[in-house]
Amino acid sequence: MAARELILAFESSCDETSVAVVENGNKILSNIIATQIKSHQRFGGVVPEVASRHHVEQITLVTDAALKEAGVTYTDLTAVAVTYGPGLVGALLIGVTAAKTIAYAHHLPLIPVNHMAGHIYAARFVKPLTYPLLALAVSGGHTELVYMKAAGEFEIIGDTRDDAAGEAYDKVGRILGIPYPAGKEVDRLAHLGHDTFHFPRAMDKEDNLDFSFSGLKSAVINTVHHADQIGETLSREDLAASFQAAVVDVLVHKTQKALTNYPVKQLIVAGGVAANQGLKEAMNEALAVHFPDVDVIVPPLRLTGDNGAMIGAAAHIELAKRHLASENLNADPGLSFAHA
Ligand SMILES: Nc1ncnc2c1ncn2[C@@H]1O[C@H](COP(=O)(O)OP(=O)(O)OP(=O)(O)O)[C@@H](O)[C@H]1O
Ligand SMILES: [Mg+2]
Repeated sequence: MAARELILAFESSCDETSVAVVENGNKILSNIIATQIKSHQRFGGVVPEVASRHHVEQITLVTDAALKEAGVTYTDLTAVAVTYGPGLVGALLIGVTAAKTIAYAHHLPLIPVNHMAGHIYAARFVKPLTYPLLALAVSGGHTELVYMKAAGEFEIIGDTRDDAAGEAYDKVGRILGIPYPAGKEVDRLAHLGHDTFHFPRAMDKEDNLDFSFSGLKSAVINTVHHADQIGETLSREDLAASFQAAVVDVLVHKTQKALTNYPVKQLIVAGGVAANQGLKEAMNEALAVHFPDVDVIVPPLRLTGDNGAMIGAAAHIELAKRHLASENLNADPGLSFAHA
């Protein structure tokens, strides 16, 4: 093995084509991200066929750019890693095919990575991780509390029964006239308003670690429709603030419940919604009071959304365990961690 471990990591599960070069699992030499957001915006969400076509167009350009920026060539690499699920099957297949081809052509080990493991391991670029730990993974497609007994071991202890938090943000954003993806703008509006609507905190009082966001989403939509019908205009800032308060309350309460049942020293907040300012503030505040010994790790903004570097970080753990794939690796759109 080369003196330094260099992993070329591919991510193409949704609407970002990203390739990174990661050294020793914790140093980003390059992390090129080609986003397709503009192509999907007019449809109000990601169109799978459009996503696949963009990935095909971008993948070799992004790969070349990642190697160039890192100042390395294929012969310097230790391994190739790729997200093989969960995600859109056509989108995943582009990354999987590119990674397999490069691994085969250059006789490199191929490391299959779970996209959600990538989101969690983005925290590895902030500081070393100590186990056991808890992760709150909140993204466009997932809302999960994950217990990690050891490196590379993931157990779902809480999950959403319906919509993911990011999905609820995007749907509520739509009714507020905000283009996809709406999370960032709803977050900004929320900071300008107040929680005047007191939307329901679903499952907050229930004795489990699960979530539900579809009732909240419907409550916001019904409130706006009802106001429209009677010719009333509601404050978008207050709607955003009220929606965000309900989401954040439940995420923070369930995380606290998880920390009580599963004592750990580190909590990772991962995924696109981890960028949420309101969530970060409320989580830090609540944990400072109730769990002062727990260290909250939120990856920097550019690493919370989909990117290749996080896949490289997760791949480092898998490589150490020799969890490798053959050239028969296939995309697994419904890939999931095991439930507790
Ligand atoms: N500041 C923010 N506040 C709330 N939500 C946000 C913020 N920034 C981004 N998001 C949301 O994050 C989501 C995108 O996250 P991410 O890219 O991790 O999801 P995904 O890759 O589509 O889904 P998954 O990772 O579950 O497969 C979108 O729903 C977006 O609205
Ligand atoms: Mg993602």
